[in-house]
Amino acid sequence: MTYEITVQASKNSKINQVDFHNIPFGKIFTDHMLLCEYADGDWKSAEILPFQNISVSPAMSALHYGQEIFEGMKAYKNPEGKAGIFRPEMNHRRMNRSAHRMCMPEIPEELFINGLNELIRMDSAWIPTTEGASLYIRPFMVATDEFVGIRPSETYKFIIFCSPVGAYYTEPIKVKIEEHYTRAARGGVGSAKNAGNYGASLYPAALAAKEGFKQILWTDDVEHRWIEESGTMNVFFVIGDKIITPSLDGNILDGVTRDSVITLFSDKGATVEERPISIEEVLTAHQNGELKEAFGAGTAATIAQITDIGYQGSLLSLHPIAARKYSTWVLEQLEGIKRGTLEDKFSWMHWL
Ligand code: COI
Repeated sequence: MTYEITVQASKNSKINQVDFHNIPFGKIFTDHMLLCEYADGDWKSAEILPFQNISVSPAMSALHYGQEIFEGMKAYKNPEGKAGIFRPEMNHRRMNRSAHRMCMPEIPEELFINGLNELIRMDSAWIPTTEGASLYIRPFMVATDEFVGIRPSETYKFIIFCSPVGAYYTEPIKVKIEEHYTRAARGGVGSAKNAGNYGASLYPAALAAKEGFKQILWTDDVEHRWIEESGTMNVFFVIGDKIITPSLDGNILDGVTRDSVITLFSDKGATVEERPISIEEVLTAHQNGELKEAFGAGTAATIAQITDIGYQGSLLSLHPIAARKYSTWVLEQLEGIKRGTLEDKFSWMHWL
């Protein structure tokens, strides 16, 4: 099936109101968005429209029962000014896995990729080129049935909008190991990128913030012993010369940046272990001086340095950022690939 995309261009661009040297995260939106509706068992044609509010019924099912999923991607420009999107096909596949878990319709690849390409082409002037900045792309799907009752919706909206962004974390962060609250439970929706996972994290994160922590390091729901992920990102530890990250156990998100970090390190010949990692292992490695680095990896966060880990009232301070050769290297590689200044050996960039 071919999905037509109709275009209604904005008559008043807002781009001149933006200070591209001082971009906050997630507060500025580009001129256009893509909108596509699902009804009667199929996706209808897509429209690119001026960025605008959407009108919904107060009885819209997503507002009550949480059938909402989303993605995060980024677009960059190479030195010649060509726009490119980082690994969009991986986000498309993950969105469809989230859709499956949440009883929502999958989005055909042609609709997702062609709609995305067209939108980014139209708003390519919005892709920042300043250091650390990029165009954040937010595809999402909401259940739109006007219906009170628990069952999967029969209608949906799929929308993509974009936002020029600076760094998500403007400085390295302190994280707290959480031993009481849980982000996701076995058999739950931890591996789906659905809104409820983030809503549920807000209260524990607010408590941790009162103690001075920027993020939580989640542990498993049964023993609170095994490290999972850190709210907005997957997490990596460098212990000795091994790079260790929790395995995909169904509770954590299959991050695109996580996969890229693993691929780059493995290709360089480093030892990367995807396996369960316990709090004890991290504490012991810290005591022995073997815990060299800890960092988060995510689309919004990119590579976020973790300076300190809070555990049961004490603070483990890690090695200075300047001494971190692994995370510094992988960040440089990722940035170079995304901005077209380093070889893209794995053909990750989708240049338009
Ligand atoms: C992303 O990294 O794309 C996310 O969705 C995380 C969110 C905190 C912005």
